Amino acid sequence: MAATHKEPVVVTCIGPLNGPASSLLTWVEQRFPMMENWRNHLAEYYAPKNFNFWYYFGSLAMFVLVLQIVTGIFLTMHYKPDASQAFASVEYIMREVPFGWLVRYMHSTGASAFFIVVYLHMLRGLLYGSYRQPRELIWIFGMLIYLCLMAEAFFGYLLPWGQMSYWGAQVIVNLFTSIPFIGPDLSLWIRGDYVVSDATLNRFFAFHVIAIPLVLLGLVTAHLLALHEVGSNNPDGIEINDHKDAKGRPLDGIPFHPYYIVKDAYGVVVFLIVFATILFFMPEMGGYFLEYNNFIPADPLKTPTHIAPVWYFTPYYSILRAVPPMFNSQFPGVAVFGIASVIMILLPWLDRSPVKSIRYKGPIFKSALTVFIVAFLVLGYLGTVPTSEWGQFGEWLGGVDRATVVARICSVAYFAFFILMPWYSAIDKTKVVPQRVTG
Ligand code: HEM
Repeated sequence: MAATHKEPVVVTCIGPLNGPASSLLTWVEQRFPMMENWRNHLAEYYAPKNFNFWYYFGSLAMFVLVLQIVTGIFLTMHYKPDASQAFASVEYIMREVPFGWLVRYMHSTGASAFFIVVYLHMLRGLLYGSYRQPRELIWIFGMLIYLCLMAEAFFGYLLPWGQMSYWGAQVIVNLFTSIPFIGPDLSLWIRGDYVVSDATLNRFFAFHVIAIPLVLLGLVTAHLLALHEVGSNNPDGIEINDHKDAKGRPLDGIPFHPYYIVKDAYGVVVFLIVFATILFFMPEMGGYFLEYNNFIPADPLKTPTHIAPVWYFTPYYSILRAVPPMFNSQFPGVAVFGIASVIMILLPWLDRSPVKSIRYKGPIFKSALTVFIVAFLVLGYLGTVPTSEWGQFGEWLGGVDRATVVARICSVAYFAFFILMPWYSAIDKTKVVPQRVTG
């Protein structure tokens, strides 16, 4: 009688497998830790059971990242990075390429959606103290991602070679000129020419389609590895790993797969409904997502009357405009603009509160956060309009623009949130934090 050959049984996400599928998986597993990673990062990764609305935005950010890469690949198939053809090639994509309009609008709406999702994702971090020890590195990688995203958006915006692309790049690159000693050479080096030109377009294209996406993907991987090393925070700001069962599983944790895969899939569906509504009915979003001036080809001889960056840069742009020039130099504004965009990286060391989550923080921190959010939104709005929008104060107040004064007050509030945090977070009255998550 022939000996019975027993095949190894491999347990997968859809249950035990046997037969040839199992043999194949075993063969792979002996050479590459596929199922091991599946278990470590999904099936046996225990996430706090009390994730709420704010926890949708991490997975949504990943979804939008993939969307941008895929639509970007298709756009690159038809786009021409040449100053004499770029604008026309985008028009060609919009009018001639089958579904080109859809791909282009997905990419342009996707850019704004990315920033909305990432801003909400960062706000969640602020609300629940997710930047606090032991998650400092997750936060630092996040901030680097944010800076890369801004660079990615800035480089991408030049590519359609419209009036706003051209003049926006001209204004921003010129800012570097004000840096003492190296400024003029630095801006020349960035542009590759004395004005924004074909050389600039070529290098911005290279950065937009390959250099920055590569760095972004690496940073997102590091962000997630750091997250899985220490585990997720939650709306209570409690460490679920402090309370485990006999098998070493956190009592307040549930496996990421299937529970959060399903929850995040629901988030993606809702996101897609909102995204499609904007895409099909208002892709320009009243000039906020695609500026009207950008439907006019770049003209180096004709400066638009009002040059403003896209909405996601406007809070910082407002801060830049709010700082008065000194000794005829714009450098102070440029320096403050730079500091404003990176200062958040220091949060893990500025927050001295004994509790993490806003649920248990006191009135001072809550008020400070509210003022900060309002100041950021007002700055964002002011950056989209000319400084003369609200008229001027009378001569007795120096005839200064009202909007500039408001931008200055908001800029002070923006920085005060960070600079005063070590003090107000330490003296604030906090509530008692429960031992276990509250749901
Ligand atoms: C491409 C952009 C980004 C992607 C794809 C991404 C992805 C993720 C994912 C999937 C998670 C876990 C799920 C969740 O907690 O929501 C996460 C957590 C986190 N992210 Fe991001 N992220 C991005 C940008 C950022 C930025 C800009 C920051 C902050 C500056 C940030 C800070 C954090 C923090 C602190 C956590 C841990 C949250 C917690 O455990 O409560 N991320 N991220």
